Amino acid sequence: MSESRLPPVVLVTGTDTDVGKTAVTAAVVATALAAGLRVTAYKPTQTGVAPGEPGDMAEVDRLTGAAAVEGVRLRAPMAPRPAARLESAGLPTLEDHVGRVAALAVCHDLVVVEGAGGLLVELTDAGETLADLASALPDSGVLVVARSTLGTLNHTMLTREALSHRGIRQLGIVIGSWPDDPDVIERTNRDEFETLPEGLLGAIPRGAPTLPVSTFRTSAPAWLPGLVQRLGTP
Ligand SMILES: Nc1ncnc2c1ncn2[C@@H]1O[C@H](COP(=O)(O)OP(=O)(O)OP(=O)(O)O)[C@@H](O)[C@H]1O
Ligand SMILES: [Mg+2]
Repeated sequence: MSESRLPPVVLVTGTDTDVGKTAVTAAVVATALAAGLRVTAYKPTQTGVAPGEPGDMAEVDRLTGAAAVEGVRLRAPMAPRPAARLESAGLPTLEDHVGRVAALAVCHDLVVVEGAGGLLVELTDAGETLADLASALPDSGVLVVARSTLGTLNHTMLTREALSHRGIRQLGIVIGSWPDDPDVIERTNRDEFETLPEGLLGAIPRGAPTLPVSTFRTSAPAWLPGLVQRLGTP
């Protein structure tokens, strides 16, 4: 596994929606806070949440105490472009998101950006994706959240290939939900992730988001040993 230092902007994508990106984002934030870094999170496009309801960044706030930031919010539980079309709303541009992340990076050591769904979901009216945002942010890299179960190897390799094709720095894999009693498929999947050049940064235990927040915060670094190795001091 590469042990190079983490860039100041880490984009969190997943092999799919509901793989645990928000839980991993919170665990990365908690791990960085425990290392003494100034850290925040940013969700460019939050869908499926009504005004006033808690979105993914509220969950990151709850689990970590960090003040996370939401970009645009759309009510429909679907990808941002169709959700925006349903509301006849415009989406922020890629330049808007680059500007927001850059502004957050001024006063934080680490900005963790959570995508919507998987890597190639369109985030803007021009059809740009989290991959385009990563390409537009000079000192950044992408962390891939994967499932533990059957099918994850194909989905993870597809995501890695898309990143590699675009020349985007890959920071490592995190398993979003790791059971207490993994079956042989899960164990061998994990072994496969360990052999990848960018490596496995860690795995979030199943049930972690329902732990008391103090336990979540103190436990997160032990879930992500590969990340801890790459965190410098502020
Ligand atoms: N380690 C875990 N153990 C148990 N449940 C989990 C774990 N990680 C996530 N979950 C649950 O699974 C669901 C999906 O997780 P999460 O919201 O983190 O996924 P996501 O990839 O961020 O989805 P989205 O694409 O909507 O942003 C949530 O209800 C969350 O609480
Ligand atoms: Mg999420």
